Amino acid sequence: MSTVKCMAVIGAGTMGSGIALTAAQSGISAFQIDVSSAQLERARAYHAKTLNRAVEKQKLTRPDADAALARIQYVSAMGAASSADWVVEAATENGDLKKKLFQEMKASFGSEVVLATNTSSISITDIATAVGSDASRVIGMHFFNPVPLMKLVEVIRGLATSDETTRRTIELATALGKTPVTVNDRAGFVSNRVLMPLINEAFFAWMEGVAKPEDIDEVMKLGCNFPMGPLRLADFIGLDVCHDIMMVLHRELGNPKFFPCPLLRQLVQSGRLGDKSGRGVFDYSTR
Ligand code: CAA
Repeated sequence: MSTVKCMAVIGAGTMGSGIALTAAQSGISAFQIDVSSAQLERARAYHAKTLNRAVEKQKLTRPDADAALARIQYVSAMGAASSADWVVEAATENGDLKKKLFQEMKASFGSEVVLATNTSSISITDIATAVGSDASRVIGMHFFNPVPLMKLVEVIRGLATSDETTRRTIELATALGKTPVTVNDRAGFVSNRVLMPLINEAFFAWMEGVAKPEDIDEVMKLGCNFPMGPLRLADFIGLDVCHDIMMVLHRELGNPKFFPCPLLRQLVQSGRLGDKSGRGVFDYSTR
């Protein structure tokens, strides 16, 4: 049973807005923090739309939906959220930015507050160097998209993460209705160490003409029970994100097998990033 009453969620993008909604639906208050007011508005609209849809489908009562929405406060600065008793950073995947944010997190929140990051590939041990002697309360709390639906939280221990921080993170993930799985801090952790080479291999299969993209996906959906084919999933995640994670794996693990497929690199270079740009492997412009 977690004692967390209020989470601060830094970043109101896809992952941050999903984490705040999941908290609110689990009875935990949330500060949704972003420097961009447009991003905060998008998060608020996503929250309202998702909750309204649940009411329409009779999965939630109107009072419960209203109560969940009322649990989220949208703020533009960490200072306005300093009463939170947990903080999870879900900002852009950039190590320097994250370290800067962690310094601000250390200054803004109480000394007992766990400083979690939703990074999908950056070293927890490295991020923790930003807070010096407070590294024991830094931990990876890796959610999956779409956060309200996906059951896993990958809990990643950095070299200095304490047992107490890990225990509290497992408790909170469970209170959020997720199943936590604890892993150690190696590039890509487990999820992306395994998933990204699989996606990358699907690009090689396409590039080599083994099959058309839709057929590669159909094989994996019907033959392996994937909910989405790997190429559709790559568009959903973002081709730039997939490419960047492969580069992290390649750099950190030093094995040529992790080098991104040239076709994946080309699509990213040409601006075909997936769902978010309207076209990636597949075309979403008419959707
Ligand atoms: N937020 C909230 N609810 C959502 C949602 C979202 N973003 N997207 C879909 N839903 C809801 C829908 O409203 C729908 O609700 P109802 O049943 O009440 O209508 C329900 O979820 C099912 O949606 P759909 O019918 O549209 O779609 P589906 O049944 O095909 O499921 C899916 C969609 C869950 C995304 C499924 O295709 C899936 O599991 N795909 C794989 C996702 C995956 O692998 N995610 C991990 C990516 S890797 C990652 O995140 C980490 C990283 O580091 C890169």
